[in-house]
Amino acid sequence: MTAPISDRLGTDLLEEGTRKMDWARQHMPICESLREEFERTQPFAGEVIGMAMHVEAKTAILAELLAVGGAEVAITGCNPLSTHDDVSVALDAVEGVTCYAKRGVDDDEYYEAMEAVIAHEPTITVDDGGDLVFAIHEEYPELIDTIVGGCEETTTGVHRLRSMADDDALEYPMFAVNDTPMKRLFDNVHGTGEASLSSIAMTTNLSWAGKTVVVAGFGYCGKGVARKASGQNANIIVTEVDPRRALEAHMEGYEVMPMAEAASEGDVFITTTGNRDIIVDEHFEQMQDGVLLANAGHFDVEIDLDALDARAVDTYEARDGVQAYELSDGRRLNVLAEGRLVNLATPVSLGHPVEVMDQSFGVQAVCVREIVENGDEYESGVHDVPDDLDREVAEIKLDAEGIGIDDLSDAQQEYMDSWQHGT
Ligand code: NAI
Repeated sequence: MTAPISDRLGTDLLEEGTRKMDWARQHMPICESLREEFERTQPFAGEVIGMAMHVEAKTAILAELLAVGGAEVAITGCNPLSTHDDVSVALDAVEGVTCYAKRGVDDDEYYEAMEAVIAHEPTITVDDGGDLVFAIHEEYPELIDTIVGGCEETTTGVHRLRSMADDDALEYPMFAVNDTPMKRLFDNVHGTGEASLSSIAMTTNLSWAGKTVVVAGFGYCGKGVARKASGQNANIIVTEVDPRRALEAHMEGYEVMPMAEAASEGDVFITTTGNRDIIVDEHFEQMQDGVLLANAGHFDVEIDLDALDARAVDTYEARDGVQAYELSDGRRLNVLAEGRLVNLATPVSLGHPVEVMDQSFGVQAVCVREIVENGDEYESGVHDVPDDLDREVAEIKLDAEGIGIDDLSDAQQEYMDSWQHGT
């Protein structure tokens, strides 16, 4: 059984991890405000919260917040490359938290750490990608009876849960945190846009200006990536399979074409589809020398690295986090972060900006509170987060920013609710 991270790495990294957490905490006013409430009310007393998330500084503040609210928290990573070991050690030292996450684990170690979390017998689960929920249903169904509910952070996880629910295979209630305005309109758009671009720039030390950036998928994440890259003077090509989203990209002024055509045009390719096989062998055949290939979708299945490996005559690490694949005609195609989430998985990746994750994790925290307070009211399956919870988080944030907004007057409310008015 996997031991907590401090038993494996010691405490040498503790100070640096603690520093990172302190910095994040200072910029997370929503979590800070909830912390004051939870310290007082202890809503999670007696609960065991199992978490599988990207273990870096912002996530650590969420785990700490849940522990401050009285929970026993057990956490591991949700991606083999996204853990910051120093933060993992610091988080493990927080009272009430046991952390098993380690960077660079292989598949076996990854799932063993998840089992270590499950061994705490969670009553609530908090997932990013659905691996924890899936492991519990597959391997430990006997725990389901005592699980009150859970929360899912990302689009891919929500898709997986909806598929499980469609097959009647999801046996406890899960909140689709991803789908709330406070998460998706900020985290997926601004977070993924900013963090993916900064991570690619820091990892390669290359400029965006004048580059042709191919963005695969024009959903929430793709829109953010396209907008931010355009803002840094790149030319944008979008590939899509949904005609409305393709039209949206066209009306934003971006070029839209199939990947088969975009392959020979791009300098940088960023996949954001949550789907598989987006960039495959036929595309590698057409690419220019020196292209960068990066994935911002949840799993590492968007770029077919097996096909690229089979096509390459040589492969080597060109820089930290950049693997060059040299083809027989001398072209080099550069893959970042082994095709895993580029904003989290290169050696210099920091993940989303702190403020953005404060919002996402604020929603997570109030959803966990809702599960504890009203979990019995939710059937097994995927649930939208109640709108008043999302608004609560938005109000805390506006308050922290010192931004005031208007209130609807009674007359306005009545007007909005009525249908009898006309010209
Ligand atoms: P979304 O559903 O809004 O967008 C996905 C888009 O990809 C859709 O418009 C869809 O039509 C398109 N698509 C699907 N198959 C395609 C194909 N073969 N070629 C071109 N386009 C295709 O989803 P969202 O919220 O943008 O999330 C996308 C992925 O990013 C998910 O895996 C999600 O979990 C992940 N994600 C990653 C984050 C990060 O930190 N990097 C943060 C949030 C989400």
